[in-house]
Amino acid sequence: MRVCVIGTGYVGLVTGVCLSHIGHDVICIDNNAEKVKLMQSGQSPIYEPGLSELMQSSMDAGRLSFTTDLAAGVKHGEVLFIAVGTPPLPTGESDTRYVEAVAKGIGAHLNGGYKVIVNKSTVPIGSGDWVRMIVMDGVTERKKSLVGAGAPAPAEEDIKADFDVVSNPEFLREGSAVYDTFNPDRIVLGSTSAKAIAKMEELYAPLVERKFAEDPSLPPVPVVTTDLSSAEMVKYASNSFLATKISFINEIANICDRVGADVVQVAKGIGLDSRIGEKFLQAGIGWGGSCFPKDVLALLHTADDYGYEAELLKATVSVNQHQRTIALEKLQQELKILKGKTVGLLGLTFKPDTDDMRDAPSLTLIEQLNRLGAKVKAYDPIVSQSGLRDGLTGVIVETDPERLADGCDALVLVTDWQQFLELDYAKMASLMHTPIVIDGRNFLPQAQMEEWGFRYLGIGR
Ligand code: UDX
Repeated sequence: MRVCVIGTGYVGLVTGVCLSHIGHDVICIDNNAEKVKLMQSGQSPIYEPGLSELMQSSMDAGRLSFTTDLAAGVKHGEVLFIAVGTPPLPTGESDTRYVEAVAKGIGAHLNGGYKVIVNKSTVPIGSGDWVRMIVMDGVTERKKSLVGAGAPAPAEEDIKADFDVVSNPEFLREGSAVYDTFNPDRIVLGSTSAKAIAKMEELYAPLVERKFAEDPSLPPVPVVTTDLSSAEMVKYASNSFLATKISFINEIANICDRVGADVVQVAKGIGLDSRIGEKFLQAGIGWGGSCFPKDVLALLHTADDYGYEAELLKATVSVNQHQRTIALEKLQQELKILKGKTVGLLGLTFKPDTDDMRDAPSLTLIEQLNRLGAKVKAYDPIVSQSGLRDGLTGVIVETDPERLADGCDALVLVTDWQQFLELDYAKMASLMHTPIVIDGRNFLPQAQMEEWGFRYLGIGR
Protein backbone atom coordinates (compact mmCIF):
# COMPACT_ATOMS: atom_id res chain seq x y z
CA MET A 1 0.00 0.00 0.00
CA ARG A 2 1.21 3.56 -0.67
CA VAL A 3 1.71 5.47 2.57
CA CYS A 4 2.73 9.02 3.42
CA VAL A 5 3.86 9.92 6.93
CA ILE A 6 3.99 13.61 7.76
CA GLY A 7 6.33 14.50 10.61
CA THR A 8 9.45 12.47 11.34
CA GLY A 9 9.67 12.79 15.11
CA TYR A 10 9.70 9.68 17.26
CA VAL A 11 6.26 8.47 16.29
CA GLY A 12 6.37 9.45 12.62
CA LEU A 13 9.79 8.06 11.84
CA VAL A 14 9.23 4.78 13.65
CA THR A 15 5.83 4.39 11.96
CA GLY A 16 7.24 5.16 8.52
CA VAL A 17 10.24 2.86 8.87
CA CYS A 18 8.22 -0.04 10.32
CA LEU A 19 5.43 0.25 7.72
CA SER A 20 8.02 0.15 4.94
CA HIS A 21 9.66 -2.85 6.59
CA ILE A 22 6.39 -4.82 6.51
CA GLY A 23 6.11 -4.18 2.77
CA HIS A 24 4.43 -0.81 2.23
CA ASP A 25 5.74 1.91 -0.04
CA VAL A 26 6.39 4.85 2.27
CA ILE A 27 7.28 8.50 1.80
CA CYS A 28 8.14 10.42 4.96
CA ILE A 29 7.76 14.19 4.94
CA ASP A 30 9.34 16.75 7.20
CA ASN A 31 9.59 20.50 6.80
CA ASN A 32 13.07 20.51 8.34
CA ALA A 33 15.27 20.31 5.23
CA GLU A 34 18.42 19.52 7.20
CA LYS A 35 16.77 16.61 8.94
CA VAL A 36 15.42 15.31 5.62
CA LYS A 37 18.92 15.49 4.15
CA LEU A 38 20.29 13.49 7.07
CA MET A 39 17.61 10.82 6.64
CA GLN A 40 18.14 10.72 2.88
CA SER A 41 21.74 9.80 3.64
CA GLY A 42 20.46 6.83 5.65
CA GLN A 43 20.99 8.27 9.12
CA SER A 44 18.37 8.32 11.83
CA PRO A 45 18.01 11.66 13.65
CA ILE A 46 16.99 9.82 16.83
CA TYR A 47 18.62 7.04 18.81
CA GLU A 48 16.27 4.06 18.90
CA PRO A 49 17.50 0.44 19.05
CA GLY A 50 17.13 -1.30 15.66
CA LEU A 51 15.72 1.70 13.82
CA SER A 52 18.77 2.65 11.71
CA GLU A 53 19.17 -0.93 10.42
CA LEU A 54 15.52 -1.16 9.32
CA MET A 55 15.69 2.30 7.82
CA GLN A 56 18.73 1.38 5.74
CA SER A 57 17.29 -1.92 4.49
CA SER A 58 13.94 -0.36 3.49
CA MET A 59 15.73 2.44 1.67
CA ASP A 60 17.92 -0.10 -0.14
CA ALA A 61 14.76 -2.01 -1.11
CA GLY A 62 13.31 1.22 -2.55
CA ARG A 63 10.32 1.23 -0.20
CA LEU A 64 11.26 4.23 1.92
CA SER A 65 12.15 7.79 0.97
CA PHE A 66 12.29 11.21 2.60
CA THR A 67 11.32 14.61 1.26
CA THR A 68 10.13 18.07 2.25
CA ASP A 69 7.60 18.02 -0.60
CA LEU A 70 4.16 17.69 1.00
CA ALA A 71 2.35 17.81 -2.36
CA ALA A 72 4.32 14.80 -3.61
CA GLY A 73 3.64 12.88 -0.40
CA VAL A 74 -0.09 13.58 -0.44
CA LYS A 75 -0.29 12.55 -4.08
CA HIS A 76 1.58 9.32 -3.31
CA GLY A 77 -0.29 8.13 -0.22
CA GLU A 78 -3.52 6.18 -0.04
CA VAL A 79 -3.07 6.48 3.70
CA LEU A 80 -1.74 9.78 5.05
CA PHE A 81 -0.44 9.82 8.61
CA ILE A 82 -0.33 13.06 10.56
CA ALA A 83 2.46 12.50 13.06
CA VAL A 84 3.65 15.98 13.97
CA GLY A 85 4.27 17.15 17.52
CA THR A 86 1.64 18.51 19.88
CA PRO A 87 3.90 20.04 22.55
CA PRO A 88 2.32 21.31 25.78
CA LEU A 89 1.56 25.01 26.11
CA PRO A 90 2.33 26.66 29.48
CA THR A 91 -1.35 26.12 30.38
CA GLY A 92 -1.07 22.34 29.94
CA GLU A 93 -3.16 22.37 26.75
CA SER A 94 -1.66 20.76 23.64
CA ASP A 95 -0.34 23.09 20.98
CA THR A 96 -2.13 21.84 17.87
CA ARG A 97 -0.84 24.41 15.42
CA TYR A 98 1.41 21.91 13.62
CA VAL A 99 -1.47 19.47 13.17
CA GLU A 100 -3.54 22.35 11.85
CA ALA A 101 -0.88 23.40 9.33
CA VAL A 102 -0.46 19.84 8.09
CA ALA A 103 -4.22 19.20 7.82
CA LYS A 104 -4.59 22.38 5.81
CA GLY A 105 -1.65 21.42 3.63
CA ILE A 106 -3.17 18.00 2.98
CA GLY A 107 -6.44 19.66 1.96
CA ALA A 108 -4.62 22.00 -0.38
CA HIS A 109 -2.98 19.07 -2.20
CA LEU A 110 -5.73 16.44 -2.10
CA ASN A 111 -6.56 15.07 -5.49
CA GLY A 112 -7.11 11.74 -7.14
CA GLY A 113 -8.71 8.82 -5.36
CA TYR A 114 -9.96 8.06 -1.87
CA LYS A 115 -7.57 8.84 0.99
CA VAL A 116 -7.54 7.91 4.64
CA ILE A 117 -6.11 10.66 6.83
CA VAL A 118 -4.82 9.16 10.04
CA ASN A 119 -4.25 11.13 13.17
CA LYS A 120 -1.29 9.65 15.01
CA SER A 121 -0.38 12.80 16.87
CA THR A 122 -1.82 12.89 20.38
CA VAL A 123 -4.49 15.53 19.92
CA PRO A 124 -7.17 16.84 22.28
CA ILE A 125 -10.35 14.81 22.37
CA GLY A 126 -12.62 15.91 19.55
CA SER A 127 -9.77 16.76 17.19
CA GLY A 128 -10.71 14.14 14.62
CA ASP A 129 -13.73 16.16 13.51
CA TRP A 130 -11.69 19.34 13.72
CA VAL A 131 -9.02 17.84 11.42
CA ARG A 132 -11.76 16.99 8.90
CA MET A 133 -12.88 20.62 8.97
CA ILE A 134 -9.35 21.98 8.54
CA VAL A 135 -8.68 19.61 5.62
CA MET A 136 -11.91 20.85 4.03
CA ASP A 137 -10.72 24.46 4.55
CA GLY A 138 -7.57 23.59 2.62
CA VAL A 139 -9.66 22.00 -0.12
CA THR A 140 -11.91 25.08 -0.36
CA GLU A 141 -8.92 27.41 -0.60
CA ARG A 142 -7.46 25.36 -3.42
CA LYS A 143 -10.78 25.31 -5.28
CA LYS A 144 -10.96 29.08 -4.96
CA SER A 145 -7.46 29.45 -6.35
CA LEU A 146 -8.30 27.17 -9.27
CA VAL A 147 -11.54 28.94 -10.16
CA GLY A 148 -9.89 32.33 -10.73
CA ALA A 149 -11.50 34.98 -12.90
CA GLY A 150 -11.35 34.01 -16.55
CA ALA A 151 -9.55 30.71 -15.84
CA PRO A 152 -10.79 27.51 -17.48
CA ALA A 153 -12.94 25.26 -15.28
CA PRO A 154 -10.71 22.96 -13.20
CA ALA A 155 -10.64 19.26 -14.00
CA GLU A 156 -12.93 17.12 -11.82
CA GLU A 157 -9.85 15.21 -10.56
CA ASP A 158 -8.31 18.42 -9.23
CA ILE A 159 -11.18 19.40 -6.99
CA LYS A 160 -12.22 16.01 -5.72
CA ALA A 161 -11.80 15.55 -1.97
CA ASP A 162 -12.77 12.03 -1.07
CA PHE A 163 -11.35 11.20 2.37
CA ASP A 164 -12.06 9.98 5.88
CA VAL A 165 -10.28 10.77 9.13
CA VAL A 166 -9.20 7.96 11.46
CA SER A 167 -7.76 8.29 14.93
CA ASN A 168 -5.04 5.68 15.43
CA PRO A 169 -3.27 6.34 18.74
CA GLU A 170 0.29 5.23 19.25
CA PHE A 171 1.42 3.27 22.29
CA LEU A 172 5.09 2.75 21.57
CA ARG A 173 7.66 3.32 24.26
CA GLU A 174 10.89 5.13 23.59
CA GLY A 175 13.81 2.75 23.66
CA SER A 176 11.67 -0.16 22.48
CA ALA A 177 9.68 1.61 19.78
CA VAL A 178 10.52 -0.84 16.99
CA TYR A 179 9.80 -3.85 19.18
CA ASP A 180 6.52 -2.31 20.36
CA THR A 181 5.43 -1.63 16.78
CA PHE A 182 5.96 -5.25 15.75
CA ASN A 183 4.54 -6.65 18.99
CA PRO A 184 1.54 -4.47 19.85
CA ASP A 185 -0.92 -5.40 22.62
CA ARG A 186 -3.73 -3.96 20.52
CA ILE A 187 -4.41 -1.65 17.59
CA VAL A 188 -7.00 1.07 18.13
CA LEU A 189 -8.86 2.49 15.14
CA GLY A 190 -11.35 5.30 15.66
CA SER A 191 -13.69 6.08 12.80
CA THR A 192 -17.31 5.57 11.87
CA SER A 193 -16.39 4.97 8.22
CA ALA A 194 -16.35 1.23 7.41
CA LYS A 195 -14.36 2.01 4.26
CA ALA A 196 -11.61 3.74 6.24
CA ILE A 197 -11.48 0.98 8.85
CA ALA A 198 -11.18 -1.66 6.13
CA LYS A 199 -8.27 0.23 4.58
CA MET A 200 -6.51 0.49 7.94
CA GLU A 201 -7.07 -3.21 8.62
CA GLU A 202 -5.46 -3.99 5.29
CA LEU A 203 -2.52 -1.74 6.15
CA TYR A 204 -1.96 -3.38 9.52
CA ALA A 205 -2.74 -6.97 8.44
CA PRO A 206 0.93 -8.14 8.67
CA LEU A 207 1.16 -6.78 12.21
CA VAL A 208 -2.23 -8.18 13.24
CA GLU A 209 -1.14 -11.58 11.94
CA ARG A 210 2.13 -11.17 13.87
CA LYS A 211 4.26 -11.78 10.78
CA PHE A 212 7.06 -9.66 12.26
CA ALA A 213 6.43 -10.47 15.91
CA GLU A 214 8.79 -12.12 18.36
CA ASP A 215 6.27 -14.95 18.76
CA PRO A 216 4.27 -15.40 15.54
CA SER A 217 2.36 -18.33 17.05
CA LEU A 218 0.35 -16.07 19.36
CA PRO A 219 -3.30 -15.33 18.43
CA PRO A 220 -3.82 -12.28 16.18
CA VAL A 221 -3.44 -8.81 17.70
CA PRO A 222 -6.85 -7.49 18.83
CA VAL A 223 -8.10 -4.56 16.77
CA VAL A 224 -10.35 -2.25 18.79
CA THR A 225 -12.65 -0.22 16.57
CA THR A 226 -14.26 2.84 18.15
CA ASP A 227 -15.64 6.22 17.26
CA LEU A 228 -13.12 9.05 16.81
CA SER A 229 -13.35 10.57 20.29
CA SER A 230 -13.14 7.23 22.09
CA ALA A 231 -9.94 6.33 20.25
CA GLU A 232 -8.49 9.69 21.24
CA MET A 233 -9.55 9.07 24.84
CA VAL A 234 -7.94 5.59 24.85
CA LYS A 235 -4.55 7.24 24.41
CA TYR A 236 -5.02 9.68 27.30
CA ALA A 237 -6.60 7.10 29.56
CA SER A 238 -3.81 4.55 28.93
CA ASN A 239 -1.00 6.96 29.67
CA SER A 240 -2.81 8.46 32.66
CA PHE A 241 -3.47 5.00 34.07
CA LEU A 242 0.18 4.00 33.75
CA ALA A 243 1.36 7.28 35.29
CA THR A 244 -1.13 6.73 38.13
CA LYS A 245 0.12 3.18 38.64
CA ILE A 246 3.69 4.50 39.04
CA SER A 247 2.58 7.32 41.34
CA PHE A 248 0.70 4.73 43.38
CA ILE A 249 3.74 2.51 43.89
CA ASN A 250 5.84 5.59 44.64
CA GLU A 251 3.39 6.56 47.37
CA ILE A 252 3.56 3.03 48.77
CA ALA A 253 7.38 3.33 48.64
CA ASN A 254 7.28 6.50 50.70
CA ILE A 255 5.16 4.74 53.32
CA CYS A 256 7.49 1.70 53.17
CA ASP A 257 10.43 4.02 53.90
CA ARG A 258 8.73 5.15 57.07
CA VAL A 259 7.59 1.77 58.38
CA GLY A 260 10.67 -0.19 57.34
CA ALA A 261 9.08 -2.32 54.60
CA ASP A 262 10.69 -3.03 51.21
CA VAL A 263 8.70 -1.74 48.25
CA VAL A 264 10.46 -4.12 45.84
CA GLN A 265 9.08 -7.09 47.75
CA VAL A 266 5.71 -5.38 48.14
CA ALA A 267 5.50 -4.72 44.38
CA LYS A 268 6.22 -8.38 43.70
CA GLY A 269 3.58 -9.40 46.20
CA ILE A 270 0.87 -7.23 44.71
CA GLY A 271 1.96 -7.53 41.07
CA LEU A 272 1.35 -11.27 40.98
CA ASP A 273 -2.36 -10.60 41.43
CA SER A 274 -3.41 -10.87 37.80
CA ARG A 275 -5.91 -8.06 38.31
CA ILE A 276 -3.02 -5.73 39.19
CA GLY A 277 -0.15 -7.03 37.03
CA GLU A 278 3.56 -6.70 37.72
CA LYS A 279 4.45 -4.07 35.14
CA PHE A 280 4.87 -0.39 35.95
CA LEU A 281 5.28 -1.06 39.65
CA GLN A 282 8.91 0.03 39.90
CA ALA A 283 9.20 2.73 42.51
CA GLY A 284 11.72 5.45 41.84
CA ILE A 285 12.36 9.16 41.55
CA GLY A 286 9.30 9.76 39.39
CA TRP A 287 8.07 9.49 35.84
CA GLY A 288 9.07 11.82 33.04
CA GLY A 289 9.53 11.81 29.28
CA SER A 290 7.61 13.24 26.41
CA CYS A 291 4.27 11.52 26.98
CA PHE A 292 3.18 10.97 30.57
CA PRO A 293 3.64 14.54 31.85
CA LYS A 294 2.06 16.05 28.76
CA ASP A 295 -0.85 13.64 28.46
CA VAL A 296 -1.87 13.63 32.12
CA LEU A 297 -1.88 17.44 32.15
CA ALA A 298 -3.81 17.61 28.88
CA LEU A 299 -6.48 15.24 30.20
CA LEU A 300 -6.73 17.27 33.41
CA HIS A 301 -7.16 20.33 31.25
CA THR A 302 -9.86 18.74 29.13
CA ALA A 303 -11.75 17.61 32.25
CA ASP A 304 -11.51 21.14 33.58
CA ASP A 305 -12.78 22.61 30.29
CA TYR A 306 -15.87 20.45 30.67
CA GLY A 307 -16.47 21.39 34.29
CA TYR A 308 -15.05 18.28 35.95
CA GLU A 309 -12.36 18.26 38.60
CA ALA A 310 -10.23 15.17 37.99
CA GLU A 311 -8.99 14.66 41.54
CA LEU A 312 -7.23 11.36 41.04
CA LEU A 313 -5.24 12.74 38.09
CA LYS A 314 -4.29 15.78 40.15
CA ALA A 315 -2.96 13.48 42.86
CA THR A 316 -1.04 11.48 40.24
CA VAL A 317 0.75 14.68 39.25
CA SER A 318 1.36 15.96 42.77
CA VAL A 319 2.75 12.61 43.99
CA ASN A 320 5.14 12.74 41.04
CA GLN A 321 6.21 16.29 41.85
CA HIS A 322 7.00 15.20 45.39
CA GLN A 323 8.81 12.12 44.11
CA ARG A 324 11.15 14.37 42.16
CA THR A 325 12.44 15.69 45.52
CA ILE A 326 13.08 12.29 47.14
CA ALA A 327 16.70 11.94 45.99
CA LEU A 328 17.47 15.41 47.31
CA GLU A 329 15.85 14.62 50.67
CA LYS A 330 17.96 11.49 50.97
CA LEU A 331 21.13 13.40 50.06
CA GLN A 332 20.36 15.99 52.74
CA GLN A 333 19.68 13.26 55.26
CA GLU A 334 23.12 11.74 54.54
CA LEU A 335 25.30 14.76 53.80
CA LYS A 336 23.40 17.43 55.77
CA ILE A 337 24.72 20.66 54.21
CA LEU A 338 24.97 20.31 50.43
CA LYS A 339 26.76 23.59 49.73
CA GLY A 340 30.22 22.80 48.39
CA LYS A 341 29.54 19.05 48.16
CA THR A 342 29.90 17.15 44.89
CA VAL A 343 27.10 14.87 43.70
CA GLY A 344 27.52 12.53 40.73
CA LEU A 345 24.53 11.46 38.67
CA LEU A 346 24.53 8.07 36.99
CA GLY A 347 22.30 8.65 33.99
CA LEU A 348 20.66 11.77 32.60
CA THR A 349 18.00 10.60 30.14
CA PHE A 350 14.43 10.13 31.40
CA LYS A 351 14.80 6.37 30.94
CA PRO A 352 17.36 3.95 29.46
CA ASP A 353 17.95 3.23 25.75
CA THR A 354 16.97 6.68 24.60
CA ASP A 355 18.71 10.03 24.17
CA ASP A 356 15.57 11.86 25.24
CA MET A 357 15.93 14.38 28.05
CA ARG A 358 12.40 15.77 27.93
CA ASP A 359 11.06 16.26 31.45
CA ALA A 360 13.81 14.01 32.79
CA PRO A 361 14.00 13.72 36.59
CA SER A 362 17.76 14.44 36.27
CA LEU A 363 16.97 18.01 35.19
CA THR A 364 14.92 18.63 38.35
CA LEU A 365 17.68 17.19 40.50
CA ILE A 366 20.41 19.27 38.83
CA GLU A 367 18.38 22.41 39.43
CA GLN A 368 17.67 21.53 43.08
CA LEU A 369 21.32 20.72 43.78
CA ASN A 370 22.57 23.86 42.05
CA ARG A 371 20.17 25.94 44.11
CA LEU A 372 21.65 24.52 47.30
CA GLY A 373 25.20 25.22 46.13
CA ALA A 374 26.27 21.64 45.34
CA LYS A 375 28.53 20.81 42.42
CA VAL A 376 26.88 18.36 40.03
CA LYS A 377 28.65 15.93 37.72
CA ALA A 378 27.02 13.28 35.55
CA TYR A 379 27.79 10.34 33.33
CA ASP A 380 25.28 8.95 30.83
CA PRO A 381 26.07 6.26 28.23
CA ILE A 382 24.43 8.27 25.44
CA VAL A 383 24.49 11.91 26.53
CA SER A 384 28.20 11.78 27.50
CA GLN A 385 29.12 10.70 23.98
CA SER A 386 26.91 13.10 22.05
CA GLY A 387 26.46 16.78 21.36
CA LEU A 388 23.52 16.73 23.78
CA ARG A 389 25.91 17.36 26.67
CA ASP A 390 26.70 20.83 25.35
CA GLY A 391 23.10 21.92 25.82
CA LEU A 392 23.08 21.18 29.55
CA THR A 393 23.73 23.77 32.21
CA GLY A 394 24.62 23.38 35.87
CA VAL A 395 26.27 20.00 35.38
CA ILE A 396 29.70 18.77 34.32
CA VAL A 397 29.22 15.82 31.98
CA GLU A 398 32.04 13.29 32.42
CA THR A 399 33.11 10.84 29.75
CA ASP A 400 33.44 7.79 31.98
CA PRO A 401 32.01 6.49 35.29
CA GLU A 402 35.31 6.54 37.15
CA ARG A 403 35.97 10.17 36.37
CA LEU A 404 32.42 10.76 37.60
CA ALA A 405 33.06 9.02 40.93
CA ASP A 406 36.35 10.82 41.50
CA GLY A 407 35.94 13.21 44.44
CA CYS A 408 32.16 12.77 44.80
CA ASP A 409 30.40 12.94 48.16
CA ALA A 410 27.54 10.81 46.83
CA LEU A 411 26.24 9.20 43.66
CA VAL A 412 22.61 9.15 42.59
CA LEU A 413 21.47 6.53 40.09
CA VAL A 414 18.93 8.45 38.02
CA THR A 415 18.47 6.22 34.95
CA ASP A 416 18.41 2.40 35.01
CA TRP A 417 20.80 1.86 32.09
CA GLN A 418 21.73 -1.85 31.86
CA GLN A 419 25.40 -0.84 31.57
CA PHE A 420 25.29 0.50 35.12
CA LEU A 421 25.10 -3.06 36.44
CA GLU A 422 28.58 -3.72 35.08
CA LEU A 423 30.61 -0.81 36.45
CA ASP A 424 33.67 -1.30 38.67
CA TYR A 425 31.93 -0.05 41.80
CA ALA A 426 34.74 -1.13 44.16
CA LYS A 427 37.11 1.14 42.26
CA MET A 428 34.50 3.90 42.09
CA ALA A 429 33.93 3.72 45.86
CA SER A 430 37.68 4.07 46.43
CA LEU A 431 37.75 7.25 44.32
CA MET A 432 34.88 8.92 46.18
CA HIS A 433 35.14 11.29 49.07
CA THR A 434 32.33 9.45 50.86
CA PRO A 435 31.01 6.35 49.07
CA ILE A 436 27.25 6.87 49.31
CA VAL A 437 24.85 5.80 46.58
CA ILE A 438 21.18 6.77 46.31
CA ASP A 439 19.65 4.21 43.98
CA GLY A 440 16.82 6.23 42.45
CA ARG A 441 15.49 3.22 40.52
CA ASN A 442 16.07 0.38 43.03
CA PHE A 443 18.25 -1.08 40.32
CA LEU A 444 21.65 -1.86 41.80
CA PRO A 445 22.37 -5.01 43.88
CA GLN A 446 22.23 -3.66 47.41
CA ALA A 447 24.25 -6.40 49.18
CA GLN A 448 27.04 -6.26 46.62
CA MET A 449 27.14 -2.49 46.61
CA GLU A 450 27.61 -2.65 50.39
CA GLU A 451 30.37 -5.24 49.97
CA TRP A 452 32.08 -2.92 47.51
CA GLY A 453 32.17 -0.26 50.19
CA PHE A 454 29.04 1.79 49.52
CA ARG A 455 26.45 3.05 51.91
CA TYR A 456 23.35 2.15 49.86
CA LEU A 457 19.96 3.88 49.99
CA GLY A 458 17.12 2.80 47.75
CA ILE A 459 13.62 4.24 47.32
CA GLY A 460 11.14 2.68 49.74
CA ARG A 461 13.38 -0.08 51.02
C1 UDX B 1 5.00 5.98 27.51
C2 UDX B 1 4.02 4.82 27.34
O1 UDX B 1 4.52 3.65 27.99
C3 UDX B 1 3.75 4.55 25.88
O2 UDX B 1 2.76 3.55 25.74
C4 UDX B 1 3.28 5.85 25.21
O3 UDX B 1 3.09 5.67 23.84
C5 UDX B 1 4.29 6.97 25.45
O4 UDX B 1 4.53 7.12 26.85
P1 UDX B 1 7.65 6.28 27.34
O5 UDX B 1 7.42 7.69 27.77
O6 UDX B 1 8.54 6.01 26.19
O7 UDX B 1 6.26 5.57 26.98
O8 UDX B 1 8.28 5.51 28.59
P2 UDX B 1 7.84 4.44 29.67
O9 UDX B 1 8.70 3.25 29.53
O10 UDX B 1 6.40 4.22 29.71
O11 UDX B 1 8.31 5.20 30.99
C6 UDX B 1 7.77 6.47 31.35
C7 UDX B 1 8.37 6.97 32.64
O12 UDX B 1 7.90 6.20 33.74
C8 UDX B 1 9.89 6.92 32.69
O13 UDX B 1 10.35 8.10 33.32
C9 UDX B 1 10.17 5.70 33.55
O14 UDX B 1 11.40 5.78 34.23
C10 UDX B 1 9.00 5.74 34.52
N1 UDX B 1 8.64 4.43 35.08
C11 UDX B 1 8.17 3.44 34.28
C12 UDX B 1 8.74 4.22 36.45
O15 UDX B 1 9.15 5.12 37.21
N2 UDX B 1 8.35 3.01 36.96
C13 UDX B 1 7.87 2.01 36.18
O16 UDX B 1 7.53 0.94 36.74
C14 UDX B 1 7.78 2.23 34.80
